[in-house]
Amino acid sequence: MAYNSRIPSSLKDGRFDYEPLFGIHPNRSHGQFEINVFDKTMNSPIWISSMTGGSTEAGLINKRLANVAGEFGLGMGLGSCRALLENPSLKEDFNLRPILGEKAPFFANLGIAQVDELLRENSEEKILELNETLKTDGLIIHLNPLQEWLQPSGDRYTRPALETLQEYCSKINIKTIVKEVGQGMGPRSLKALAELPISGIEFAAFGGTNFSALELNRNENVNSDFWKPLCHVGHTASEMVEMLNDISQTTDLSDKTFIISGGVENFLDGFHLREELNATGLIGMAGAFLQKARVGDKELTEFTKEYVLGLEMAREWLNSKKGLKVD
Ligand SMILES: Cc1cc2nc3c(=O)[nH]c(=O)nc-3n(C[C@H](O)[C@H](O)[C@H](O)COP(=O)(O)O)c2cc1C
Repeated sequence: MAYNSRIPSSLKDGRFDYEPLFGIHPNRSHGQFEINVFDKTMNSPIWISSMTGGSTEAGLINKRLANVAGEFGLGMGLGSCRALLENPSLKEDFNLRPILGEKAPFFANLGIAQVDELLRENSEEKILELNETLKTDGLIIHLNPLQEWLQPSGDRYTRPALETLQEYCSKINIKTIVKEVGQGMGPRSLKALAELPISGIEFAAFGGTNFSALELNRNENVNSDFWKPLCHVGHTASEMVEMLNDISQTTDLSDKTFIISGGVENFLDGFHLREELNATGLIGMAGAFLQKARVGDKELTEFTKEYVLGLEMAREWLNSKKGLKVD
């Protein structure tokens, strides 16, 4: 696409200091942005966010995603493993550890309603079994009360998610990440999560894939005109970074990793938000990876390679105006 080479000064990206004196160009090893999280090492702070598994297409997509995660040393979360809990013959679709390799952080995924059900049935060992079967590093628990409400057969929460999480943490001792699915969360929820003994929080912020909207589009039986205002509530990734920075003044965030996701497709936006956050951050994407994975391995590899290089370039030549030096 032709790009106008005369860019007016009003279009300057003022979020960074550009410092051309101190960096080097990315080299072929792509290890310039190595980061240790969840007791694992990633070559780049990019997280492939959870996407639902279970169907034949999902199995293929999962394998493609795991391939690039392994090749580029990224982390990855599985989509909901509920179907696997109910039908162990689906294991192949979720069995990505052999493709990813041991080095990459890799997490299983369940909804809070399933976790609640397992706790009520005293079947929490099934969570540990899931984790062992998939050789995952821990579990992601997703919270999506708005989406579930808009789904005719969606789960209904019969106690607040926080109570379920408190009980879960008192009974299960594996690494755990808690996330929304596309509308983010506000300061009270973030603070409550920051105080739990969990390993990470994924934003899944407002501004990217919006599952409430998706449900309204796909369910004809739901009165979408009435319910559509619910699709517009939530918090963006930059709001959530600000909230966490406030929380960090009173709560220690050093034992947690934050996956900044939800509409963060532009690599400089991701880099900027990560730099702004006063805690360990990764940049997560779901929709953008899915789009490329659907096209094919080549497109997915190209996209990932450019994103990795983009972050390495940014790390070498750009400093956040906040003056935070990337470690
Ligand atoms: C097709 C698709 C399926 C998803 N399935 C799940 C899921 O099973 N569990 C989950 O926690 N999040 C799921 N998500 C939410 C993503 O992990 C992510 O939080 C959200 O899409 C925001 O990121 P994005 O704007 O980069 O897409 C899914 C997203 C997509 C696009």
